[in-house]
Amino acid sequence: MQLKPYMRENVLCMPVVLISTVSKDGILNAAPWGNVTPILRPLDEIMIASWIKRDTLDNIRDTGEFVVNVVPSSMIEEVMVCSKNFPPETDEFCEAKLKPKKSHCVSPPGIEGCISWIECSLKEEIKRDKYSIVIGKIEHLEADDAYFDESGNMDYEKAKPLCMMCGDDEISYVRPVCAGRTAKYSEMFTGR
Ligand SMILES: Cc1cc2nc3c(=O)[nH]c(=O)nc-3n(C[C@H](O)[C@H](O)[C@H](O)COP(=O)(O)O)c2cc1C
Repeated sequence: MQLKPYMRENVLCMPVVLISTVSKDGILNAAPWGNVTPILRPLDEIMIASWIKRDTLDNIRDTGEFVVNVVPSSMIEEVMVCSKNFPPETDEFCEAKLKPKKSHCVSPPGIEGCISWIECSLKEEIKRDKYSIVIGKIEHLEADDAYFDESGNMDYEKAKPLCMMCGDDEISYVRPVCAGRTAKYSEMFTGR
């Protein structure tokens, strides 16, 4: 089967996070995001792709800060509320009944009940006509102890981080399960 080039998300699984920001007037905003990628291990940058018409992008430009909240599958309905096109003056934490969690290094709060909170400052914006790629520097990375061991490995069967696969006219929300194998990083280089 041959697919159209724009159907990349039909063949690639993507994470679903909520990005929390605050406007220059102090209004809280939260929006679901799938185009989120850490930039190469073990660096400390993350990139998000944003259409130009997004309150999230305006807020990041205005304040230079954002939080990437890693969402559990139990928060799908909150994700769907935040995906609505509210005007910039609407507090989306209120609309989705999200509880703010004070951040350590940035002004936008995280969201209570999430699996992890990635506090970022704006490092660079790569501007295109219709979209921007935002590169954030991670200032603080925190995770809920309930879902992680002491080395920081996620119990993803317990945490159930939300992901998505796109279809012809709908999104399927999915989550990772073990494929039956682990691999030490050293195995990439030495085979052991
Ligand atoms: C699961 C999901 C993933 C999304 N991913 C993105 C994305 O990666 N980039 C983007 O610009 N919009 C994305 N959107 C759309 C925005 O979340 C949506 O337009 C939202 O209303 C934007 O809110 P804001 O204007 O408050 O930023 C996604 C929506 C959903 C439901």
